[in-house]
Amino acid sequence: METLKVIRLGCVGLGGRGQSQMREMMSVPGVTVAACCDKHLDRAEAAAKSAAALQEEPPAVYTNYKELLARTDIDAILCCSTWITHARIAIDSMRAGKDVAIEVGGAASVEECWRMVRASEETGKVCMLLENCCYDRKEMALFRMVREGLFGEIVHLEGGYRHDLREEICYGRENRHGRLPNFIARNGELYPTHQLGPIAKMIGINRGNRFLTLCSLASKSRGLRVFVQKREGAEYHLANTRFNCGDVVSTTITCANGETIHLTHDCSLPRPYSRAYMIEGTNGIFQEAPFGNAIYLEDNSPPDTGWDHTWERFEDTYLPRYEHPLWDRYRAQGIHAGGHGGMDFLVCSAFIRALQTGTPPPIDVYDTAAWMVITCLSEQSVAMGGAPVPIPDFTNGAWIEREPFARTAFCLEDICEECFCN
Ligand SMILES: NC(=O)c1ccc[n+]([C@@H]2O[C@H](COP(=O)([O-])OP(=O)(O)OC[C@H]3O[C@@H](n4cnc5c(N)ncnc54)[C@H](O)[C@@H]3O)[C@@H](O)[C@H]2O)c1
Repeated sequence: METLKVIRLGCVGLGGRGQSQMREMMSVPGVTVAACCDKHLDRAEAAAKSAAALQEEPPAVYTNYKELLARTDIDAILCCSTWITHARIAIDSMRAGKDVAIEVGGAASVEECWRMVRASEETGKVCMLLENCCYDRKEMALFRMVREGLFGEIVHLEGGYRHDLREEICYGRENRHGRLPNFIARNGELYPTHQLGPIAKMIGINRGNRFLTLCSLASKSRGLRVFVQKREGAEYHLANTRFNCGDVVSTTITCANGETIHLTHDCSLPRPYSRAYMIEGTNGIFQEAPFGNAIYLEDNSPPDTGWDHTWERFEDTYLPRYEHPLWDRYRAQGIHAGGHGGMDFLVCSAFIRALQTGTPPPIDVYDTAAWMVITCLSEQSVAMGGAPVPIPDFTNGAWIEREPFARTAFCLEDICEECFCN
């Protein structure tokens, strides 16, 4: 029986997500929460109390994360703070000798992305973006299908974060939530990574491929203002606020290998949730659709009866047939009742497993920087009327010939069948 290295975790940022991810981390074998920190004492205390109910050691409580980082008995940091504090806390964590996992969100500047990369290179510490959507069941099955060549050569991909968050954004003052100031101050693709992460892995970004440029355009901004006026009336503190962020922000990224990626950010209008995933290759197409996902593969779908091609339902045949072995194993073990259908547990497991085994994480600092930087670059492009903006190569040319990736069960570059033999 393998003895697991115990990872002593410090948790920084303990709003709703931080508290749920802390519990998710605790459900991964070998994790102890040693300390909880939030600027708001009541949140740090509430998290410490809920952790103490699940383990013997009661976690220490902090409101200043630098005091937590000064401890020498903490191995790694889980950072679930706000978008504009993730990079800073990640850099300070690595400089304090800790590996770090950060929740998703975009970067505020190109500089902070470079500083994350330098901190990881200079300290040898892990900096992993917890992009849970890379471990979603559907995304992983599609990844397998792409690797097995079912779509032919990939040409174009689309994705989005199309989620009605008007309530969460507009009640940011009451709920002490971090999104509100971003929608007031910024105009761009504020939340790019949920679909960009899986897409980047699918087309080998930072490993033989790279993002080259992006162009972003923003629609007018109306949704949040109409929402607060309708809900709260003219006296509400946001009634006359001018929200900078366009309701729908469209971004197109070009890649060195010729693919185009279209992202949509759409969080301030009434609409059902969608990540609007689309994969288009020389042999067919997958498209997320409102009533079941649709697929058409020229060499696999039933023969056409007319001039037009006919969609099949992805869930009926393809999903069970092309299940990723990680999900096969996970389902056979009985899915842990965690967040977002299981992908939160898997992404937390991927981080912890990398630290326990000393293998590079499946989402490394180069991925983290390349995915997060899209936000501040898209703000620049929107401000210049959609002008193309170059995307930095955070690998400094290493993408052309990278060291081999770690072959593990959580690998996002390839399907490592050998890791599932027993
Ligand atoms: N992957 C997912 O599915 C998913 C889901 C929800 C949220 N998120 C992400 O998780 C993050 C947190 O989300 P949330 O909804 O809990 O946000 P939130 O704004 O409610 O919580 C953030 C917390 O961080 C704390 N904080 C900020 N700066 C700090 C600092 N310097 N030191 C200590 N604490 C600090 C705040 O006080 C707050 O309690 C966001 O980046 C969000 O985008 C991801």
